[in-house]
Amino acid sequence: MPPIDAKTQLFGVIGNPVAHSLSPVMHNAALAAMDYPAVYLAFQVNAAAGAAAAMRALNIKGMSVTIPHKVDIMPYLDDIDPLARAIGAVNTVINRNGRLLGTNTDCHGAMTALEEHTTLKNKPAALLGAGGAARAIGFGLLEAGARVTVFNRGIERGQALADSLGAPFYPLDQFGDHPADIVINTTSVGMTPNTAAMPVAAETLAAHMVVMDIVYNPLETALLRAARARGCTTIDGVAMFVHQGVRQLALWTDRQPPVAVMRQAVLNALTASGPHDTPLTKMQRL
Ligand code: ATR
Repeated sequence: MPPIDAKTQLFGVIGNPVAHSLSPVMHNAALAAMDYPAVYLAFQVNAAAGAAAAMRALNIKGMSVTIPHKVDIMPYLDDIDPLARAIGAVNTVINRNGRLLGTNTDCHGAMTALEEHTTLKNKPAALLGAGGAARAIGFGLLEAGARVTVFNRGIERGQALADSLGAPFYPLDQFGDHPADIVINTTSVGMTPNTAAMPVAAETLAAHMVVMDIVYNPLETALLRAARARGCTTIDGVAMFVHQGVRQLALWTDRQPPVAVMRQAVLNALTASGPHDTPLTKMQRL
């Protein structure tokens, strides 16, 4: 790793809370492996406006944005790309010579994680959940040509997401009545501490399915365990987390980041911290 000196650049993540974020270990491991002269720090931020001003004032080259600032940050940016605008949330800011550009790599992260295991075009894909993560992934699935169906516990919210995706909607408990090749859990069901919970019944899973969970604490959720037992291909939540970060770092550095190094850094951090016994909710997903 290059010495920290007057040329060292700064990247970071803003969120609140942010102390449990895995982004700093992941990105710093990558920067070291790339021999890239930058450090990546976590900033607990109350107001997104101040963070945008700080990026300009301090010439911070790149920022990850996490809850609760993915929407708040948008008015303070100079430009937002069409994908982030469609999703309605920014998770990445790039400082291009003083102009702040907002984009969303959550969607790309999920698609890359899926495409490591399957093709998406024309495949029936069940999106479980209707929050911000579901919205980002839904747009990615559409762009990749999958045939998306939204399933959610809350009818109104599920229908609203389905409408904006132009996709059919059904209540979550009707998942088993509809065909799916790809199943993506974007709900918080199964996350520590309620690790026995599953968004859908095990009997609804069949061997031809590719099942991805965006929850990564625990790494193997009850859903993924059941899916594996039934012969499905499974993809854990770290895959999406890593690939959204890979995309961020590629945008900031114009170089290809080391995916395996980043995944290992995240896995090491998760193992070191062990299962959290407090409900960190959002921190254990995106
Ligand atoms: P994010 O923006 O991070 O995706 P969110 O907006 O809190 O998170 O969305 C959480 C998702 O998990 C929602 O789809 C929520 O369903 P509702 O819209 O019905 O609330 C889903 N969810 C949370 N707890 C759930 C539970 N116990 N059973 C089923 N779905 C649940």
